[in-house]
Amino acid sequence: MRGIEVVPSAKRLITSLRDLGYDLPQAVADIVDNSIAAGAKTIHIDTQFNGDDSWLRVSDDGSGMSNPQLLEAMRYGSDRDYTAESDLGKFGLGMKTASLSQCQRLTVASRSSPGKAVIGYSWDLDHIQKTNRWEILPLTDTRVISEKLQNATGTVILWERLDRILGYTHPYGEPQRLQLNKISREIEEHLAMVFHKFLSGQLDRPKLKIVLNSATLEAWDPYCRNQQNTTQCATSTYSIIHEGQSGVVLMEPFVLPNMDDFNTPAEHKKAAGPKKWNSQQGFYFYRMDRMIQSGGWSGLRAKDEHIKLARIGIRFSKELDDAFKINVAKMRVQLPQQLKEKIEKEVQAVTKAARERYARAGKSRRPTTPPTSSGSGSAPTPRLISVPVLTLDQWATRLLAVATPAELSAVQAALNRLKSR
Ligand SMILES: Nc1ncnc2c1ncn2[C@@H]1O[C@H](COP(=O)(O)OP(=O)(O)OP(=O)(O)O)[C@@H](O)[C@H]1O
Ligand SMILES: [Mg+2]
Repeated sequence: MRGIEVVPSAKRLITSLRDLGYDLPQAVADIVDNSIAAGAKTIHIDTQFNGDDSWLRVSDDGSGMSNPQLLEAMRYGSDRDYTAESDLGKFGLGMKTASLSQCQRLTVASRSSPGKAVIGYSWDLDHIQKTNRWEILPLTDTRVISEKLQNATGTVILWERLDRILGYTHPYGEPQRLQLNKISREIEEHLAMVFHKFLSGQLDRPKLKIVLNSATLEAWDPYCRNQQNTTQCATSTYSIIHEGQSGVVLMEPFVLPNMDDFNTPAEHKKAAGPKKWNSQQGFYFYRMDRMIQSGGWSGLRAKDEHIKLARIGIRFSKELDDAFKINVAKMRVQLPQQLKEKIEKEVQAVTKAARERYARAGKSRRPTTPPTSSGSGSAPTPRLISVPVLTLDQWATRLLAVATPAELSAVQAALNRLKSR
């Protein structure tokens, strides 16, 4: 039987999709995801305050898009192959939904090889309101775009008519300018956190550089691994099977130093993080290496001043997206019940250690035992879980801690074979 096609109302649906729950820093992070997926090494984020003509622009030096690729990319629910191990995309929506959650006009311009022309299209909410059609407009005004993509491959995302960012009927004047400065700082803090692994160069890819209004972002490491008194506890891996999909979860717990045991007071202040010490305790979830959620205990325990030094990284592979219930805005996850049960004991050991350390605050300026693990890349030698002789499990832990994301499942498979002998 032939079906009857019922096309959604463009103006109603696009307006509703503005409210998926992004805030500005999260929306910018979704755009940065795309640049990373396109292999960008440098991403520039620029904001310009000029009343109604204010704009925000994200430009990258990634692979760029050909005309057919860009047309597909502009489509809500765009389609492409997501099989690359490190691909951060999933839904085919982020660029459109994140952008139009903040502005009324999104322009995407791109160049896929140095010799080719720049191509570009816009989604414009005024046009959609007038026509009620799923129509994009070809690039006409290249003023803000042309200074980028000069003879290089890459992509520029331009947000104009920033109604949701400025939030003023008449976006002029000092308060509005201050507002734009404040939000620049929020963007900076958020990106420094969620992309810290990319910015620090610890991954098996070229170090990422993000420049926000001409200031280069510095990675914010939640675990303060550069502090001599940070303790890295034993790393664990868990195999999870959810609705027939199996994947690996890597758990990396840390106990941070007390205030007086930081190398400097300024570093202690910085370590508080965007939401400050009490709210930043708990789990840090990463989908591949991009942080999705920071702080909180996902129902395993309550936030508590006494355990605020405990921060635990949880990295899952994208096969487990459904198990972690990842949403379109990629800003929230749920800890799967089966994983909760598996990690409960270890989380308890880490929070106990954090509580003990907190209780020792001020009693000794420096711990009597030497720190076991500090600085990124060094193998964890757990102090809280004492290990005199290395067993197979402990070797497994060490191996998994130094494996690159691409090696993880192979290393895990080899270890499983070894254990079953
Ligand atoms: N900066 C960029 N460089 C190259 N291609 C890009 C860039 N930004 C977007 N694209 C292309 O546009 C497509 C659509 O992006 P969009 O963010 O809407 O969806 P997605 O990244 O595929 O999935 P998700 O909804 O999970 O973000 C991408 O799949 C990619 O092919
Ligand atoms: Mg995307």
